[in-house]
Amino acid sequence: QQYLQSQNYGQKIEYIEACPSTQLVAHVEAQNGAPDGMVIIANEQTAGKGRLSRPWSSAAGKGIWMSVITRPKLTPQQAPQMTLVAAVAIVRAIEDLTNLTPTIKWPNDILVKGRKLTGILTELQADPDRVKAIILGIGMNVNQELEDFPEEIRDIATSLYIEQGQSVKRAELTAKVLNHLETYVSLYVEKGFAPIKLLWESYADSIGKRVKISTLQDSYEATARGISEDGRLEVVLDDGTVRGIYSADIHIL
Ligand code: BTN
Repeated sequence: QQYLQSQNYGQKIEYIEACPSTQLVAHVEAQNGAPDGMVIIANEQTAGKGRLSRPWSSAAGKGIWMSVITRPKLTPQQAPQMTLVAAVAIVRAIEDLTNLTPTIKWPNDILVKGRKLTGILTELQADPDRVKAIILGIGMNVNQELEDFPEEIRDIATSLYIEQGQSVKRAELTAKVLNHLETYVSLYVEKGFAPIKLLWESYADSIGKRVKISTLQDSYEATARGISEDGRLEVVLDDGTVRGIYSADIHIL
């Protein structure tokens, strides 16, 4: 907490030695009225959750496994963009503490040299017209060595330690993420998505490139152009039409 400069974010922290998933704890806390910016941090998760019900490897003591309960004044339609806001905040925090230049892979992966460093899982508690809470689940690989990852993800995952050969203080990085997160969430709520969109696009790895888009229904190639006001990835198809992608796996060609 000595590194925190935020007003709300991280001012209340629930630290847990081990739990299945901080997302589950955060949902319960949010339902019980947890304040804006309350953070649940675990040293170890035994059943970490990724997007699309994938598991998230969360080795003890090696990474940042946290869920941030936020209560921004947004409509449920504006909630998905919070993932992009969080991605920008995390990249800024990594830049503050390392010499690495991370990129963002739409919608929510933070990569270094093409390998995954951080994932974000955004979950919503809302009425039809009003957001009650947005729970930002952030998983950051910090001090793992390659052997700390399960074998099947060793060639797609990385950590700050692996990339720079030097460990990073988790408390300091956590505080940096929370400081930036509070700043960028207020920027989004006050000024809308335009400033976030510019920042996000400056870190995105796919803009201007040929990509392959795979959804459950089909798979096709196009050129990535940018993101739209509602957080969709805009691609230009070969016949010149522009399409906004809401959910898909993107692969740069
Ligand atoms: C993804 O890229 O699929 C998202 C990964 C999100 C992982 C974090 S770790 C803290 C929080 N608790 C979880 O169970 N998941 C998120």
